[in-house]
Amino acid sequence: MIVTIDGPAGTGKSTAAKRLAAALGFEYLDTGAMYRAVAALCLEAEVELNSLAAAELARTSSITFQSGRTMARGMDVTEFLRSPEVTRAASIVAQHPEVRAALVARQRELAGVLNFVCEGRDQGTVVFPQAECKFFLTASPEERAKRRMDELALCGKHVSFEEMLTQQRERDERDLNRDVAPLRPANDAIVIDTTAISLEEVLKRLEAEVRRRL
Ligand code: C5P
Repeated sequence: MIVTIDGPAGTGKSTAAKRLAAALGFEYLDTGAMYRAVAALCLEAEVELNSLAAAELARTSSITFQSGRTMARGMDVTEFLRSPEVTRAASIVAQHPEVRAALVARQRELAGVLNFVCEGRDQGTVVFPQAECKFFLTASPEERAKRRMDELALCGKHVSFEEMLTQQRERDERDLNRDVAPLRPANDAIVIDTTAISLEEVLKRLEAEVRRRL
């Protein structure tokens, strides 16, 4: 069974997806980490972000997840992936159709055999249109920026609310308006506005919906 969870940043997607997978005994795939890993490799190799060279890196580089760490070309890039440079760069590499094609192929390969919760922007629309259970999480831009700000503060990184909101707007714009696989809920996705509800409540709702389909 494949469960997809899509939506913009700051909706609680990652935490919800991870916890849902654990509760169900499913595997978890963070597709954002794959775009971030390609962005990190481009920055490291000084390769232009929205380019064929970036697509070549996406096609040929090993990107693996082991015990909560992300390895790209044998390097542990886990911390670097959450940096503001990589966050911004990921939404630029993600605009390139061939970068997307390379990563979509890997995502289908990875989640092809076992039960998976796949999290991203296009999992229910493009990568797994046949998924048995699809969710799309939303929240107000202000609430999302506040959550991201609090998350960064926990790792000792302090960004002002206004700056967070500006960075987020820029990233949303790119994700919503790109030509290939723009951020959209699938027609058959269950849309949940998480602005005013707790993570526990979101989880309860997600788990109940999946269990109804098992
Ligand atoms: O989810 P996360 O914030 O880690 O994703 C980083 C960036 O990767 C997003 O802003 C988006 O541009 C891109 N992405 C994507 N498709 C996915 C997952 C992430 O385009 N399935």
